[in-house]
Formats: sequence, structure tokens, C-alpha cells
Amino acid sequence: MARRNKIYEGKAKVLYEGPEPGTLVQYFKDDATANNAEKRDVVDGKGVLNNRLSEFFMTGLGNIGVPTHFIKRLNMREQLIRQVEVIPLEVIVRNYAAGSMAKRLGLEEGTRLPRPLVEYSYKEDALGDPLVPEEYILAFGWATQQDLDDILSLALRVNDFMSGVMHGVGIRLVDFKIEVGRLWDGDYMRLVVADEISPDSCRLWDVETGQKLDKDVFRRDLGNLTDAYTEVARRLGVIPANSAHPKPTLIN
Ligand code: TMP
Repeated sequence: MARRNKIYEGKAKVLYEGPEPGTLVQYFKDDATANNAEKRDVVDGKGVLNNRLSEFFMTGLGNIGVPTHFIKRLNMREQLIRQVEVIPLEVIVRNYAAGSMAKRLGLEEGTRLPRPLVEYSYKEDALGDPLVPEEYILAFGWATQQDLDDILSLALRVNDFMSGVMHGVGIRLVDFKIEVGRLWDGDYMRLVVADEISPDSCRLWDVETGQKLDKDVFRRDLGNLTDAYTEVARRLGVIPANSAHPKPTLIN
């Protein structure tokens, strides 16, 4: 049997060469890391849930005309994606103060922000993904002003979509991170949402109780991460309402 080519291995995913040029297979691992991989563990079932949830969000975005790298889900842990040139930025959108922003500004977590705020971190694990101003992004050539205008507009569209979908199932979208890639079509380039959208990269709080249903459960030792992600998947109808765990019900 032919062995496929591994292109890249990150903390939570592996990228393999795809079946056709310009495609990749994205494999979701069960590994969870926090604080720039200082804290790490294997969380049974996380990869399966994130594969399904990312498929759900990326498909929904595609349906409303927001371009993404997603082509189709292949199986429980893998999806086919378009190969893009990833811009080395973590694009963070915040609706409520939490995490590093709450700390930096001394704000109480959960404080509603005057409007959605978009900020950028430079994607470099060795430096702990430092927050960077637009000035740096332009000066170091990581993106152009036109890219930044397009990234802002993409990020706000993703925010509107995700906030609405989550609100519909009683979940508050506190903040999230996306990555953006360049997709070439001949001489033309467009920016698309890449990587993943899942509870690993969002803060999701139950509207009624404030219960955390995202990776903070792992970062802050608040309970079982798979249970939290299963709850999100169940509410969204991504897995059956009576499913306690993704394994028995997700055959493919
Ligand atoms: P922060 O409060 O730690 O800056 O994170 C803001 C949001 O962005 C939160 O939902 C987690 C997400 N995020 C990632 O998924 N990966 C990252 O590397 C960073 C910096 C943030």
C-alpha cells in the first residue's frame, strides 16, 4: 500500500498531500495543548468532534458566500481542503472581553465590548504568537493594506455568521480566532478562511448559565473537554441529540 506524504504536523492537526494537485487532507488529532504547548494532553474524541464542527461551520460559511478552504469531509478525522498560502497571522475577533484581552486591560471577563474588535497575532510558536499592530504587518510584508481590508471584512462576516448560529442554540460567541490563506486562480488571488473553526479556537459560553463549552475547559481545568464539545455539537445538530459521545454514533 502506498504511504501518503505528510506535509506538516501541527499541535492539533496533520496535513497530508491530497489526491489532486492543489488539495490537502487535513487530519484532526486528539491532542490538546494550551499556553503555547506548556500544558498538553490527549483528549479522547476531540479530533472527531472538531472535524465535524469545522465541517459544519465552513459549509455554513460557504453557503452564505464566505470563501473557505474546505472541500468535503472524508471520514471521521479527515477532510479534503484546498492548499492555500497561509498568512502568518492569527486573526482574533472579540465580542466580549475574555482571556488575554481581559488580563491586558484589567476588564472583567464577559464585559460586552462597544463593537466587535479585530486584532492580529503573529503566528510564531517560538515567540508565543505575539499581538502585533497593523503597522508591523505592513512593514514586515506579512500582508498588504488590501489584504488587511479583505481580512477585516472576512473576519466580521465570520463573526456575524458564527454569532447568529451560536445564539440560535443558546451559546454566546465571546471571541474566536481564524486563519486566512491565499488561494491562487491563475493570476488572480483571493483570500479564504483556512485552518479550522471549532471550540478549540473559539470561546463559547452558555447564554443562561455562563458555562464554558470551549478549550478554556482544558486550559483552566474546568472539567471534561469532550463533554463540552459534544454539547456544542449536539445543540447544533451535528451529532444526534441523544449522543453521549461521538464514537458510537459517528460511523463516517
Ligand atoms: P486570547 O484571549 O488567548 O488572546 O484568545 C482569543 C481567542 O482566540 C480565543 O477564542 C482563543 C483563540 N486563539 C486561538 O485559538 N489560538 C491562538 O493562538 C490564539 C492567540 C488565540
